[in-house]
Amino acid sequence: MKTNRRKFFQIAGVAGAGVLSGVDIVQYQSSRHKETALASIQEAVAKQHSQQFNMCGYAAPKLETVRIGFIGLGNRGPGAVERMSNIEGVQITALCDKNPEGVKRGQMILEKHGMPSAKEYSGSEDAWKQLCESPDVDLVYICTPWSLHTPMSVYAMENGKHAATEVPAAVNGRGSMAAC
Ligand SMILES: NC(=O)c1ccc[n+]([C@@H]2O[C@H](COP(=O)([O-])OP(=O)(O)OC[C@H]3O[C@@H](n4cnc5c(N)ncnc54)[C@H](O)[C@@H]3O)[C@@H](O)[C@H]2O)c1
Repeated sequence: MKTNRRKFFQIAGVAGAGVLSGVDIVQYQSSRHKETALASIQEAVAKQHSQQFNMCGYAAPKLETVRIGFIGLGNRGPGAVERMSNIEGVQITALCDKNPEGVKRGQMILEKHGMPSAKEYSGSEDAWKQLCESPDVDLVYICTPWSLHTPMSVYAMENGKHAATEVPAAVNGRGSMAAC
């Protein structure tokens, strides 16, 4: 009995030492990891970086008159035309929808507000490209289905226009990168 008790304490003692050693190893590894992580952070902070342009705080030069071209005059587009028609300093110079009825709806809103008729782009899936290329447009306002938001925004910007789009501006990561 005595022998068994002694044996038990011997085994328990060894196991206890083993457990303690295990904790020590984990702590050691963890502190080594922290040291390495800290060293890599310190190294990164010490590096000199050249400043790269980003859009934070960017303000585009002021336009006295903002000439807007709308693409997509289904449900949402006419409401946007209506809202913009009430803003001082806005001209609506172009209206586009592949469906000519949509363009007609937009023209009626302009008429109601006593504004001049806008140039019409319609009758094909690609007519919007001509609107984006037009020298009479400063801002392209996009109210088409989701899949067209990114290509239309990007094409407008490639043609030197500001672009505003209904959400979402992009439906995947690649589109987000393209829009940036
Ligand atoms: N309706 C809402 O309450 C609401 C709210 C928030 C956001 N949105 C977004 O606004 C956008 C438009 O919504 P909606 O309800 O007006 O949709 P809608 O389908 O009624 O209108 C889209 C219009 O885009 C036109 N169009 C499609 N392909 C075209 C092309 N290649 N060239 C020119 N015109 C083209 C269609 O003919 C149609 O008139 C959608 O992306 C939607 O998610 C809508």
